Amino acid sequence: MSFVDVQNVLVVGAGTMGAGIAQVAARAGYATQLFDVAPGAAAKALDKIAESLQKAVDKGKSTPDERTQALARLTAATDLDAAAAHADLVVEAAPENLELKKELFARLSKLVKPETILATNTSSLPVTAIAAAAKGPERVIGLHFFNPVPIMKLLEIVHGERTSPLVLTAAKAIGARMGKEVVVVRDAPGFATSRLGIALALEAMRMLEEGVASAEEIDRAIELGYGHPMGPLKLTDQVGLDVRLAIAEHLRGELGERFNPPQVLRRMVRAGKLGKKSGEGFYKY
Ligand code: CAA
Repeated sequence: MSFVDVQNVLVVGAGTMGAGIAQVAARAGYATQLFDVAPGAAAKALDKIAESLQKAVDKGKSTPDERTQALARLTAATDLDAAAAHADLVVEAAPENLELKKELFARLSKLVKPETILATNTSSLPVTAIAAAAKGPERVIGLHFFNPVPIMKLLEIVHGERTSPLVLTAAKAIGARMGKEVVVVRDAPGFATSRLGIALALEAMRMLEEGVASAEEIDRAIELGYGHPMGPLKLTDQVGLDVRLAIAEHLRGELGERFNPPQVLRRMVRAGKLGKKSGEGFYKY
């Protein structure tokens, strides 16, 4: 069995992350299919990708030729079964729901070739548990990308308890080909990035609750004092307050009370203040 010769990539889930992953896969030269359960969502994502590729051309990061070639490698798949049968690498970017991901991996693992790598873009769910639902858990790995995927340099590779070393080696090569710097972490709750990112954001929210400073001032302090491109509250607005609340609750269950979500976060999510996507979070949009 060989996991090395990846040519055809299938991305499942055409939201922000799925679209970004499909874009970098196509730019890296992979024939890339994008699938979403919602009819028309994958085709719509392809339009967004075309715009983003144009932006890269405008910014001098890419040539018009490279854009044309990347677009030629991209297709919106309408039949998941057929697309999976063709794929050498599947990257799942479906919503962060463990049961959903387990069902998907159980299904995908029966459709793909034995040497196909199955990757999840989960930002905090256990890769080992997702793998356990699949036929051939040794080919399951976490490929955690960051938003905006075409710009962020990092790919966090998460190896589950049963991930094959050959799959890990292949994943590192795939990351490099996509132009990413990789870090490899074991399947611990929140991996490296979500655990640290959430810790900072929750503390910033507690400081806001205690009236230490305004959201703007807390963010500016971290941006200018520590060189972060975006403060933790602004970033929470970007990621989605509901997404961050779900991760915090998961981490509290796994790692204890230090990840207890502050009241302000619960209140805002209850009120539908989910960040940029709803028009209001810690800031108004
Ligand atoms: N393709 C390629 N490159 C592009 C591009 C595109 N479509 N659009 C822009 N760029 C390039 C620009 O040319 C620029 O490059 P240089 O620095 O070399 O000039 C760079 O990307 C930044 O672009 P801009 O100057 O237009 O944008 P900015 O300075 O406002 O930065 C940002 C935008 C990079 C998003 C920055 O605000 C940032 O880093 N924010 C924090 C993002 C972050 O933390 N993401 C992680 C979220 S958490 C997550 O994703 C994980 C999870 O599990 C929830």
